[in-house]
Amino acid sequence: ENAKLLDAIIQNAIDGIITIDDRGQIETINPAACILFGYEPEEVIGKNVSHLMPPPDRNRHDEYISRYQHTGVPHIIGIGREVTGLRKNGSTFPFRLAVSEVGFSGRKIYTGFIHDLSRQKEAEEQLKNYA
Ligand code: HEM
Repeated sequence: ENAKLLDAIIQNAIDGIITIDDRGQIETINPAACILFGYEPEEVIGKNVSHLMPPPDRNRHDEYISRYQHTGVPHIIGIGREVTGLRKNGSTFPFRLAVSEVGFSGRKIYTGFIHDLSRQKEAEEQLKNYA
């Protein structure tokens, strides 16, 4: 049935997919996102998504979400941005973040799509050395 197909797609997606509630608490994380950030699902579900980013965004992310909820002005939703992620082991990596807002059974959730850019960035650095 449809829901099972959708789940299979998310479980096997190459990009990371994370959903949060309207306060930033992680509700779901797919295997690709777990691998990128180095966590098991149960280590991050229920935690604030800000655990997955370094400062200064880490200390401001709650404000980003509440600002959006009060003003309706998006800075990432529908736009996307290149941001920095923080892995469990403390290392960081660049990724392309796309966020969409979803109304789900009477409440609001946000879905984040995480496209790792580390290899692309490394290749760009290598190319610069030849320039
Ligand atoms: C807003 C950073 C992950 C949901 C923002 C902004 C930044 C940011 C810089 C906007 C700041 C501004 O107002 O200009 C990051 C970083 C992440 C991350 C560094 C690394 C892990 C996520 C994820 C989700 C998410 C995974 C959703 C599952 C949102 C929402 C907003 C927001 C809902 C407010 C709406 C908007 O500004 O469009 N984030 N974010 N973020 N982020 Fe994140």
